[in-house]
Amino acid sequence: MPLPFRISVERYDPDTGKSYTQEYEIPAQEHFTVLDALNEIKDTQDGTLTHRFSCKMGICGSCGMMVNGKPVLSCTTQCAELPMPIAVAPMRNFPVIKDLVVDLDDGMRKLRTVMPYMNFVRNTSSEVRPQKQSPRERLKIDQTSQCIKCMLCYSACPVYSADKNFLGPAASALAYRYNEDSRDSSRGERLDRVIGTQDTVWSCSFVGECSRVCPKRVDPAKAVQRLKVMGALRMLTKPFSRKSHEKK
Ligand code: FES
Repeated sequence: MPLPFRISVERYDPDTGKSYTQEYEIPAQEHFTVLDALNEIKDTQDGTLTHRFSCKMGICGSCGMMVNGKPVLSCTTQCAELPMPIAVAPMRNFPVIKDLVVDLDDGMRKLRTVMPYMNFVRNTSSEVRPQKQSPRERLKIDQTSQCIKCMLCYSACPVYSADKNFLGPAASALAYRYNEDSRDSSRGERLDRVIGTQDTVWSCSFVGECSRVCPKRVDPAKAVQRLKVMGALRMLTKPFSRKSHEKK
């Protein structure tokens, strides 16, 4: 008979303002993920336990939390592979709303600042047509296109922890992804935003924790460094203008 899973959850009650740790024990199930364990606790022992999830398959990015001190997706983290007790806590670097639910507004706002969409290259008649992209061009954005915006990278980032003006890993990866897309025409404007507004890329000290914790292997640390090079070249070759709409 396998030993039960022991889960220690860092909780926060917004009504009383109190933080505390609560221990739970559930029967061991070979294929239980940490998310399964939390759902089991909520269903059978404590309906007040609060956490987020949706897809249960590592796609939606909503179940991020600290497990044994590391930012992970709880739906892809197996209980049986972890030492007991399993310590579960809310994602670092974001304000806690309740128990394991954090306020991701700052991260989401940063994603919006980098124009996370394509401004298609238009032909002379300004007509938007389907844009062709070669396999080689697609390959350039393949890695950064995998980002699921789970924000684990912000939770792992010591620079974001100290400086909330840092644009941060996911937003940088997103900016890089659209700037490298052969179908986009707003590279200059997007670059101006990431090098010259309130949220910038410059404070990254290349610790690389963001890339280590990324569940999709996006490598935001590399994207930040490339944006720095692109930004430096842009500043050298053109006087900075936030309102620029030029391509390159
Ligand atoms: Fe969707 Fe975990 S529940 S990524």
